[in-house]
Amino acid sequence: MRHFIDLSDWSASELDDLLTLAVELKREWRAGGNRPVLAGKTLAMVFQKPSLRTRVSFEVGMFHLGGHAIYISPQEIGLGVRESIPDVARVLSGYAQGIMARVYEHDHMRQLAAASSVPVINGLSDWMHPCQTMADLLTIYEHFGRLNGVKVAYVGDCNNVTRSLAVAAARFDMALAVASPVEYGPDADFLRMTHESGLELALTTDPVEAVREADVIYTDTWVSMGQEAQTETRHRVLRPYQINAALLEAAPSSAVVMHCLPAHRGLEITDEVADGPQALIFPQAENRLHAQKAVLVRLMG
Ligand code: CP
Ligand code: NVA
Repeated sequence: MRHFIDLSDWSASELDDLLTLAVELKREWRAGGNRPVLAGKTLAMVFQKPSLRTRVSFEVGMFHLGGHAIYISPQEIGLGVRESIPDVARVLSGYAQGIMARVYEHDHMRQLAAASSVPVINGLSDWMHPCQTMADLLTIYEHFGRLNGVKVAYVGDCNNVTRSLAVAAARFDMALAVASPVEYGPDADFLRMTHESGLELALTTDPVEAVREADVIYTDTWVSMGQEAQTETRHRVLRPYQINAALLEAAPSSAVVMHCLPAHRGLEITDEVADGPQALIFPQAENRLHAQKAVLVRLMG
């Protein structure tokens, strides 16, 4: 059983195949609609955290492909509380042809996948956000016409989004610079994983140094879901890592700005940048739909 829970489990050629299919499904959708290749199939969407993009893009994606999606809110099934995670996986496997889950602990994602007899898709865990990265890759590819050699500078909290991006960068020979304060920089697991993947990784605490040669400047929230108790400290320590007009001045004028959203305007990114001509943020959000359709078709088709 193939799952999409960790990008490290997918080779460069498999990810490339997903991107090629995403481009084709996007073209097909825009030319009048997708063929109903998932007709009669249902995706169960289990959420332990809030979501706008993940929830809506998966539900719309299933609809476009002729299938159906069921939203299961954090309160509803009490994953691991009302019922064990393996039992939830076994029950859902009897009703649905795929499970998409958003959980706190990545180990819960692994437990779901281990007990499931249908494919499990990671819609974000504390370890990775692979569906976001597929949309990011599609967006970068559409803008630059290639992935190979593109220089990405990630500025801010080194988190689940950064980790997924790092695996993708290794797979597609992109260069990645990460600028974070020491407190919120890459942990030992991140460094081990990137070392093993052969990624060209430049680490710094200086955002200006990271963006100087960047093609893409990427940021995410300073406070991920589940870290709310650390908000005050994180806001103080990460303040110098804001993507603002002054930082863009230090980057090539051709650089584009990306953010997985939701954005905290005035914190990790200013309005001026988020709404400015270099931002690719909303095409990036739309591409969640197209990139995930490829994942759905490959796993559930
Ligand atoms: N980027 C992203 O995953 O957004 P949501 O949390 O709204 O799904
Ligand atoms: N790093 C953020 C991403 C939100 C889409 C989080 O985990 O909350």
